[in-house]
Amino acid sequence: MTSDSAGDDAAGPLYSRLGSPPRRLSWAALPTAVERAPWLDTGTTTVWIKRDDRSSAIYGGGKIRKLQWVLANPPYDDDAPVLSVGGTGSHHLLALALLLAPLRRELHALVFEQPWTEHVRTNLAVLVSSGAQLWPVKSRPQLGWAWLSYQIWRRPARPGTYMAAGASTALGCFGFVEAGLELAAQIDRGDMPRPDVIYLTAGSAGSCAGLLLGLAIARVPVHVHLVTSVERWAFNTVMLQRKLLAAHGELVRAGLVDAPAGGPGRWLYAAGVTFAIDHGEIGRGYGSPTPAALASLAIAAEHGIALETTYTAKCLAALRRIEAVRTGASRNEPSRNVLWWNTHAGNDLSARIDPDWRARCPIVVPPGV
Ligand SMILES: Cc1ncc(COP(=O)(O)O)c(C=O)c1O
Repeated sequence: MTSDSAGDDAAGPLYSRLGSPPRRLSWAALPTAVERAPWLDTGTTTVWIKRDDRSSAIYGGGKIRKLQWVLANPPYDDDAPVLSVGGTGSHHLLALALLLAPLRRELHALVFEQPWTEHVRTNLAVLVSSGAQLWPVKSRPQLGWAWLSYQIWRRPARPGTYMAAGASTALGCFGFVEAGLELAAQIDRGDMPRPDVIYLTAGSAGSCAGLLLGLAIARVPVHVHLVTSVERWAFNTVMLQRKLLAAHGELVRAGLVDAPAGGPGRWLYAAGVTFAIDHGEIGRGYGSPTPAALASLAIAAEHGIALETTYTAKCLAALRRIEAVRTGASRNEPSRNVLWWNTHAGNDLSARIDPDWRARCPIVVPPGV
């Protein structure tokens, strides 16, 4: 893992555009490749994949993009524990745990139950094995109480600094602003044609807010189809607008040199960046595997790509559903280029699992999982 970088190439395409840049760690292996995926093409659609699954030898996916900004700046840049929240199979908690461990920093995690799958169990096993301290929470609505209880009644000797779910702070969004600029450079270089549509999964909204802003700054006209993994109460247009506003404000504060005039809405409009929110793949709710997600996971596995059924397999399921219907509707549909952004870390973490993890785990894992 390399550490800080300011001003060199490793600092990424956003850094040099900021008049007063916050610090940024250079942990991720960027840019991630864009690759053709002929196995996803339909009659009128040509598909490409953004390989964020290969963004780190430690733990890739989209999380490391955000964390290399968030962990480099106050209030997270000291040696205090970090307190955060996530489900039993949370990729955010896992990424935090794996990135904090080499720094000898503690992770305190409020962990709510989500439907059990083998993938969820493996993530929990790695989280426990990493030494993270877990506080079990029955369900997402009880997180507020759990936080209060952590602060008042079960306050540890050295309490953690709270980090929002998914590291989707305003600064966390910078990781995906940078990702938008990175893609723009790849299009300019001819690595792929400008996509007409990008499919991206959304949860805590930091990735999509950042990407929309990054594409607008780079003036890449494109439609971003956001496939949410959480219910309407947890992700909707209002929440996305709030995240866009917060990230936009932070970019302006950091002195974005060539910022378009106006607020985030004006930026997106002027650049021709549009988006739609798709709740159609959630099934029974957050983390519940759907038949369409399981089928997409199996097809991706046949092509060497490891997905999971909470986020990325649902996103791929939406792409396959929409692009197939579009082709089926009329042979005269104009052809288009589509980019599927794979945000799931492809790392094999089995070697990190302590054989005795169940004995140390405060969450009861049902037999057979
Ligand atoms: C694999 C994966 N992809 C995408 C997302 C969604 O990112 P965001 O929370 O920034 O919307 C998550 C969130 O945890 C995730 O784990």
